[in-house]
Amino acid sequence: MPMVAYRADSFYTASTVGKIIPINVARVEVVVDSQSGVLSDSRPFAEFISLAIAGDDASAQRVKSRLPQLWHLLQQAEQGEAQAGLRTTVGFSRNGWQRLFSAPMPKNLVDFTALEDGGRSFPATEGDILIFLKSTRMDVNFRLARSLTTLLEGCTRIVEDVQGFNYREDRDMIDFVDGTENPVDEERAQAVLIGEEDPAWSDGSYITTQRYVHDLDSWNALAVKQQEAVIGRSKQDNIEFSAADREPYAHINKGKSTDAEGNEVAMYRQNMPYGNTIENGTYFIGFAKSTEVVDIALRKMIIADAEGQYDHLLDYSRAVSGVIYFAPPKCFMAPQN
Ligand code: HEM
Repeated sequence: MPMVAYRADSFYTASTVGKIIPINVARVEVVVDSQSGVLSDSRPFAEFISLAIAGDDASAQRVKSRLPQLWHLLQQAEQGEAQAGLRTTVGFSRNGWQRLFSAPMPKNLVDFTALEDGGRSFPATEGDILIFLKSTRMDVNFRLARSLTTLLEGCTRIVEDVQGFNYREDRDMIDFVDGTENPVDEERAQAVLIGEEDPAWSDGSYITTQRYVHDLDSWNALAVKQQEAVIGRSKQDNIEFSAADREPYAHINKGKSTDAEGNEVAMYRQNMPYGNTIENGTYFIGFAKSTEVVDIALRKMIIADAEGQYDHLLDYSRAVSGVIYFAPPKCFMAPQN
């Protein structure tokens, strides 16, 4: 059984008994053991840091010995920066897990599979530890990011540090609202938190990350109607096209994960736009109770089907990283006193 924790969160409430039912109303308690960034809503600013542990065993031991301090810094910052709504998540990839822990590996923790088709590619890249911070203030995220990376200095290398920001009211830089169809409330918890399928890691979650770089010149050269056909929603007012009106290559067709019977399986995307005029894009970060959920969607996006259809968003967005992590429940992260 996971350790049950009670904490105030302005985005969730609790069910009357038993398992938590998060609801988007204010200031009530939740009873989940997931890390605070896993189920909570997006914030205007985020920072995504991936770290590689240095190759020698002594470095892995040093990282391991510093994890209690890392957890302490995260908790201290969340309390100290409550006004900024700071929420945090730490994840470990398969390689990171093997190097750091003797505890049994979460059943579904696999390496990100590199995929390629028709000149499109999803690379699998390096990353042992993910630190995901989000709040209403970029400086709060940055200060904490600095303390955490300083703590792990000497035994880790920063592979990526991506600062995401809210762009024009929840739009991606391609100017479409992102996140609309995300599950909420109990459906979100159901989609994201591991349950009976791996009881030892109940309330943990898998995270798939990919950094995409946009080609905004080509994207913006498209007529709005063409952009809308690529996404499958209207641009200005964000209305979903009916199945009959959607192009087979529309992102909302291809990005959806399905089970063997063809039913949709939900994931929770906390994507953020990032970058500047030199390089910019979308940091994709998808949470699910199984790594297969996002993997199925990625295959549908990149591999052309029998009719030659793939996700045309990939003609304007190139993935440059890809890693899968596991976010353990809090009871695993908290130092045992
Ligand atoms: C360049 C990267 C990406 C961009 C800019 C992007 C953008 C969007 C936008 C604008 C929407 C429509 C609004 C919404 O419901 O959120 C959407 C929907 C969605 N995307 Fe993406 N996305 C990206 C990558 C991905 C990836 C890698 C996946 C899955 C592996 C994915 C899965 C989905 C899903 C499941 C939906 C909801 C479909 C529905 O139920 O209508 N997206 N995305």
